Amino acid sequence: MDQHSAIATPPAPTLRLDYRPPAWLVPSMRLDFDLDAAATRVRATLEVEKNLTDGAPRGPLALDGAPGMKPVSVKIDGRLLAEGEWRVEDDQLVIDLVGPKHVVETEVVISPDKNTQLMGLYASGGLLCTQCEAEGFRRITFFPDRPDVLSRYTVKMIADRALYPVLLANGDLVGEGEAEDGRHWAEWRDPFPKPCYLFAMVAGDLKANRDSFTTMSGREVQLGIWVREADLPRTEHAMGALKSSMAWDETVYGREYDLGIFNIVAVADFNFGAMENKGLNVFNSRYILADPETATDADYDAIAGVVAHEYFHNWSGNRVTCRDWFQLSLKEGFTVFRDQEFSADQGSRAVKRIEDVRVLRAAQFPEDGGPLAHPIRPDSYLEISNFYTATVYNKGAEVIRMLHTMLGADGFRRGTDLYFERHDGTAATCEDFVRAMEDANGADLADFRRWYSQAGTPRVRAALSHEPGTARARLTLEQTVPPTPGQDDKQPMPLPLRLALFGAKSGKPIVPERIHVLHDASAEILFEGVDEQPVLSINRGFSAPVIVETNRSSADLAFLSGHDDDPFARFEAMQQLMIDTLVAAIEGRAFDEEAVIEAVRNTLTDKALDAAFIGEAVLLPSEAFLGDQLAVIDPSAIRKARSHLRQRLGRELEAEWRAAYAACAGNRFEYTPSAKGLRRLRTVALGYLDDGGAADAAKLALAQFEGADNMTDRQGALSTLANGTAPERETALAAFYDRYKGDALVLDKWFTTQAISMRDDTAEAVEKLAQHPDFTLANPNRMRALVGAFAANQFAFHVADGRGYRFVADMILKADRLNPQSAARLVPPLGRWRRFEPRRAALMKAELERIVATPGLSKDVFEQASKSLA
Ligand code: PHE
Ligand code: ZN
Repeated sequence: MDQHSAIATPPAPTLRLDYRPPAWLVPSMRLDFDLDAAATRVRATLEVEKNLTDGAPRGPLALDGAPGMKPVSVKIDGRLLAEGEWRVEDDQLVIDLVGPKHVVETEVVISPDKNTQLMGLYASGGLLCTQCEAEGFRRITFFPDRPDVLSRYTVKMIADRALYPVLLANGDLVGEGEAEDGRHWAEWRDPFPKPCYLFAMVAGDLKANRDSFTTMSGREVQLGIWVREADLPRTEHAMGALKSSMAWDETVYGREYDLGIFNIVAVADFNFGAMENKGLNVFNSRYILADPETATDADYDAIAGVVAHEYFHNWSGNRVTCRDWFQLSLKEGFTVFRDQEFSADQGSRAVKRIEDVRVLRAAQFPEDGGPLAHPIRPDSYLEISNFYTATVYNKGAEVIRMLHTMLGADGFRRGTDLYFERHDGTAATCEDFVRAMEDANGADLADFRRWYSQAGTPRVRAALSHEPGTARARLTLEQTVPPTPGQDDKQPMPLPLRLALFGAKSGKPIVPERIHVLHDASAEILFEGVDEQPVLSINRGFSAPVIVETNRSSADLAFLSGHDDDPFARFEAMQQLMIDTLVAAIEGRAFDEEAVIEAVRNTLTDKALDAAFIGEAVLLPSEAFLGDQLAVIDPSAIRKARSHLRQRLGRELEAEWRAAYAACAGNRFEYTPSAKGLRRLRTVALGYLDDGGAADAAKLALAQFEGADNMTDRQGALSTLANGTAPERETALAAFYDRYKGDALVLDKWFTTQAISMRDDTAEAVEKLAQHPDFTLANPNRMRALVGAFAANQFAFHVADGRGYRFVADMILKADRLNPQSAARLVPPLGRWRRFEPRRAALMKAELERIVATPGLSKDVFEQASKSLA
C-alpha cells in the first residue's frame, strides 16, 4: 500500500519551515466502530470549523487517508454527497465547503487482520488494537492527521461479545449494552481535547489487574492493567511502578492525573516500547509483564521506566502536545529526562546515570557522527517514523538535563510550572519550552538554542597545568562541533561542565565542585591555592553530552578511579583508563595493562563500594564503543585486544573474582537495589572467571543456570556459556528452549543470547536461527531479538566475508514488505560503512546499494538507505 518505486519518484521531504496552521479545525467528533477482524466499518462525524487564526491558509477541507483508501459514503450537514462532490487526491479526501462550520460524515471499511505494519487498527493475538502516533490515525478514518488539530472524542464500539468481551477507549465509559446477534457495545467520551495521534481503542478477551490511586487533591482514580488472563500474575510490578510514578509527578512537578480512569493494555505485536494514548496506554507486553521466573532485573527496571515514561506523557505530551512532528523532542526529550530522574530516585542514582550514558554512547553518539545525524529538532524528513531516534529521545533528554543543571532544581521547576500553565490544552513548540525557562528565571538562553538546531557531538579538549611553587593551576578548554550532513559550519555550544580538582598526593579535594559553562570556542580558568600536583575531574555526572579529551596520565585516571567523590566520575576515569590502554594496543603503540589490572583489583576489593557499582565499573568498554574511538574501525583488531585484556583480568584476579562470586552466591530473589547489585556482580565475576580460563567455569555456570531462582541469574549463566564451546553450552541452550518455548518474551532472550555471542561462528549460527520455526519477521520483538541484536554485535556482524551484511540486508528487504517501520530500524548499522576499514566498507556499501535499487521499497527504508549512501 505505502510502497513506491524508489527510482521513479523520489518522495518530497517535509520541511520544518513550511509549517502553516491548519485550514480547518475539528473541535469535536464522534466515531462509530463496527468491529470485525476482517472488515471493520468506521463512521466518523466531524464538526469542522474554518480556522480564523493568522496565517491559516484558506481552502477546501482536506482530510488525510491511507494510500488506496476510499470512502463508502460522504455526507455534509446530513446530505449524502454524489461521487463528484468529493475527490481523493494524494491520499487526501478533498471537499469544497462553502460555510465556516459544517458537519462532515464519512464511512470507510478497513481490514485489521491484513494490517502487518501495526499502524492504525490491527489484530494482535486475537485482540484488536490501535496505534496512531505518528500518522496512523489516517489509516482508520479520513481526518486532518496532524498534532495541532485537537478534538473532543466520543467513541462507540460494537463487537462480538464472545470474541471481544472488553471494549476500551480513551476517557470515561459513558454507556454500554447488548446489541443483536451476540454483539455488545460500549461508548467512551474523553473530555480533554486531543490530537488524533493520542486516540486509542482496544477490543478483546482481556482481564484486568485493578487498583486505585488517590491524587493529591483527593480524587480516586481507577487503575487497570489489561492482559490475557494467564498473564495477570505478571502485572504486579507494572502496577507498583504506575502508582509510584503518579505520586512522583505530584511531588516533583506538582502534576496530578486528570481523569477518573487510567488503563494500560499489553499487546504482543507492537512497533515501539509503548504509547501514551490519553487514559489508555498501549504497551508492548515486554514492558509490562514480569515475574522473577521470566524477567531479568534489567527487564524490571525497563518496565518501571517505560510505565513512568508513558504516565508522565499525560502532562508532557498530552495536556501540552506538539505543534508539528519537528517538535517531537519537546515531549520525548523532556519525558525521557523525567523518567530517568524517576528511576534515579527509585534506585541507585549513580548506576542509573552510568546506564543512561552507556545507552547515549552506544546509540546516539554513532548516530550523531554518521550519515543520519540530525538535530534534536530536525529540519526535514521523508518519513517521520524514522525520527523516533536516540537523538530526539536521549540527546533530547540530555539537553533538558543541562537546563536543569544550569538553572538549578528550583529554577527548572519554575520553568516547567510556567510552561504547563501557559501551554495547557495547546500544541506547543521547543521554542515555547525554552522561552518558559527563560521567562521564569530571567535567564538568557539565546546561545543555548543551538542545542536544538545543531547536530553533532561537541568535542572538548581540557588541559590542566600546574606551576609548582605558584599555587596556581590553569585549565584551558577548547570545543569544536564537527560538521554533519547539511551543516558544515557550527557555532560553539554552551556546555555546563561540572569540575573539581583533587590532590594527587594527599588524595584530598583541593577545588570543590563547581559548574563552568563553556560558552565560547575556548576558555581559560585559573585556580588559586593549589599547593600540590592537582588531578582534574571533569564533566562529572556527565553534565554535558560531549566527548572530553584531557591530558591526564594513566596514573591520574587510576587515582580518580579509586578516589573521586563523584561515583560517575570514578566510573568514567576507569573507562578512560581502559580505553587509553586498549586503543594503544589496537593501534600497535606501547600500552600498560598493569594499571588497568590494579585499578580493577582496587575497585573489586573496595569495601566501601556497593556491588551494583562495582559490577558496572569493572567492565571493559564494549567493542563498539572502542570502535568509536578509532579513526578507522577494524573489528578483528578490537576483538583481539579486548579479549586479551579480559583474559588477563580473569586470570590475574581469579582469587578476587572467586571471592566476589562466592559473596553473591547466597543471594535469593528480591527486587531491591542491593539484591540486584549482587546478581549483577555475580554474573560479571562468572564471565571473567570463564574468560580467564578457570577450569570449572562452565560447571559453575551450569550450576548457576540450573539452580537459579530468577531469570537474571539464569540468563547470566546462559550468556556466559553461549560465548564458549563447553558441552554445557548445548545442554543449557536446549534446557532453556524447552522450559520457555511457550513464552514469547523469554524465547526472545533465547534468540538474543545466541545473536550476541562472542563466538567466531555467530554469523552462521544467526543465519540458521532465522530458519528456526519460532523465528518470524511479523513480530517486531522477535525480529529485534535476533536481527537487531546481531547487528549490534560488532565482531559478528562485521565478519570479514560480509555474510553478516548480506543477511541483515536480506532481512530488511523481507521485513519491508510487512512492516516498513521495523525494517527501517535495521538500516543504520549498515549506514556506518564509512567508519570501517576499506574492504568491509565496500561490502556494506554494496548492500545499501542493493537495497536502494530494489523496486517497491517503502519510504521508511528508502530514506534511511539513500541518506546512508549520500
Ligand atoms: N510516543 C511513544 C513514546 O515514546 C513512542 C511511540 C512512537 C510508540 C510511535 C509508538 C509509535 O512514549
Ligand atoms: Zn515518549
